[in-house]
Amino acid sequence: MDPECPDAAVLDEAGAVLRAGGLVAFATETVYGLGADATNAAAVAGIYEAKGRPAFNPLIVHADSLVMALSCVSHWPEIAAKLAASFWPGPLTLVLPKSSLIPDIVTAGRPTVGVRIPRPRVTRELIAKTGRPLAAPSANLSTGVSPTLASHVLDDLGGRIDLILDSGQTTLGLESTVLDLSTGSPRSLRPGPISASAIEEVVGELHLQDDQHTISDRPSSPGQLAVHYSPKTAAVRIDELSELASTPNMGTTAYVILGKHNLTEIAGAPHQYLLENPELAAREFYRVLRACDALGVRRIVVISPPDQPEWRAVRDRLWRATQPVAGLRDPRP
Ligand code: TXA
Ligand code: MG
Repeated sequence: MDPECPDAAVLDEAGAVLRAGGLVAFATETVYGLGADATNAAAVAGIYEAKGRPAFNPLIVHADSLVMALSCVSHWPEIAAKLAASFWPGPLTLVLPKSSLIPDIVTAGRPTVGVRIPRPRVTRELIAKTGRPLAAPSANLSTGVSPTLASHVLDDLGGRIDLILDSGQTTLGLESTVLDLSTGSPRSLRPGPISASAIEEVVGELHLQDDQHTISDRPSSPGQLAVHYSPKTAAVRIDELSELASTPNMGTTAYVILGKHNLTEIAGAPHQYLLENPELAAREFYRVLRACDALGVRRIVVISPPDQPEWRAVRDRLWRATQPVAGLRDPRP
């Protein structure tokens, strides 16, 4: 379907599947989501089952309008109103105290819920046709790479879900920024397309940048486990090619080059993906990791982008998808 001019009959059908408690995968501007009626606990249980998602990891709820978003939360502070006015519809998830409309399974038992209004018309019209907020995590198998194409969803979840709405490649390619507004001081739980400085331009200094430097194993956002979003192939990150000198020679390597690097040493290497700027890298990173898996190479080497604010979200996902080079072992027994 055309994401900005979706076929109403198809959306009617998808909405009916969702209202009946089924699972429908659909594109947002970030990645494909696996959706269920967020007000139906049994339907939401199906999401956890299809993905193999641990029960402690809460889901994001997607609304088509401010009215619907407000029905999911029990408190709407001034800062949420300002951020929603600036960034919704868009890739910003706000964590707020949940309302009684949202069953505990959606939030993994937490008193808070993550909510956002996605940008593409197809996504908002699907929610509107369903007439209910949709709980939707990324539509990949748990701990795998998020899907940016309908074919990725089919590869991971084909046979386990009711419907996939194909509206092409997602435009942004990395998951939404998650901001916790449920406690006294706002906290960044996941860097994403909406940068800390863009948020601070709207609501003033929040020291969000500081939070985003650390990638810990037990953060307050349970989905942010250190090993997450990883390809099946052994994957390492390096700053310089010289770091590979001490690694075992495992055979074919695919190189993913993030940012501008001068790499004459691998100029002739057969499998190379050059993602020079942050927007392109965000859009293509997951697709490239999946392409590397499909190549059947022995390892993926990612050359890191600079530690600069515009690369923060890509670096966060890179750190979760790869090991530092010292961790590289020959995967063969
Ligand atoms: O861009 C996105 O956000 C995509 C699309 C489909 O909207 N969805 C997505 O969902 O990335 P998922 O489940 O893969 O990631 C949701 C993240 C997880 O890190 C989860 O722990 C966090 O949001 N999260 C959700 N609800 C939360 C809550 N109540 N408190 C803290 N973290 C929460
Ligand atoms: Mg995910």
